[in-house]
Amino acid sequence: MLHRYSYQAALAASEIIHWRVEDIIGGEKRLDFTKPFMPEALAHTESLTFFTKDERRILNQIRGNAYLCIFGLVEEFILPFIVDHARPQLQGNDYRVRALLQFAGEEAKHIHLFKRFRQEFEAGFGTPCQVIGPPDAIARAILAHDPLGVAITTLQIEWMVQNHYVDSIKDDQDLDPQFKSLLKHHWIEEVQHAKLDTLMVESLAVNRSEEEIMRGVEEYLEIGGYLDGALQQQVEFDLNAFEHATGRALNETEKEDFRRVQLRANRWTYLGSGMTHEKVLETLESLTPKARQRVESISPAFC
Ligand SMILES: [Fe+2]
Ligand SMILES: [Fe+2]
Repeated sequence: MLHRYSYQAALAASEIIHWRVEDIIGGEKRLDFTKPFMPEALAHTESLTFFTKDERRILNQIRGNAYLCIFGLVEEFILPFIVDHARPQLQGNDYRVRALLQFAGEEAKHIHLFKRFRQEFEAGFGTPCQVIGPPDAIARAILAHDPLGVAITTLQIEWMVQNHYVDSIKDDQDLDPQFKSLLKHHWIEEVQHAKLDTLMVESLAVNRSEEEIMRGVEEYLEIGGYLDGALQQQVEFDLNAFEHATGRALNETEKEDFRRVQLRANRWTYLGSGMTHEKVLETLESLTPKARQRVESISPAFC
């Protein structure tokens, strides 16, 4: 074990963070639609050079709305998964019980936060943007997999949030301050979740043979494949939303460029940036070096 995470330390860290959904959005706190919502490292709109500056900003905001939706829906499978994981062991380690329930409570708050931002987006953007879903159907499909595969998926998502904020959001001064505030407040609580996920993955793997661990890893990759299909659908939705919002009909060459650039951007945002995160790879390696090697053999397709 390379890390020194503990339920007690994760709980203590989360107890000193206090923010409410109402502190971040609503009233005077409005989205500014003259600014981008997503950092370029995730949005990848600049290489679509046949778009005007305004069109790139509109696509950036469409990607911001999809980010709200996709994080909202992955958290809808994480919440029941954490509750189910905690439920059989409510009599055990008190710090463990409290840390996991705090984790679940924070995810419920994040789901609410993402929904509130989506309401603000819909009220201010002007034209509809379709998103993948519904969240409960996606949650059911993911939760039907081996719990170890689901736990590794959750681990990847929470470390991915660290990568997004630290590497490309924190120092970006051009983003809409309200959207940036959402990303910052989410990141602050996800740090603890990523550590708790590490402990959860270890506890689910502890009595497994190498073969059984690798079965969980294969199911994690299956979930990734399922999400990749959903991302391909989201790119089509974003293309339609862009044409609707701008009134510009793209020709076939432009559509192909859009799909190529945006599928790569979506794959990096939601899959590659988590699959290649060193903390995810360290945890996989601690289960068995084969787990790390297997994921590293697949991840270049999502980068
Ligand atoms: Fe979250
Ligand atoms: Fe989380």
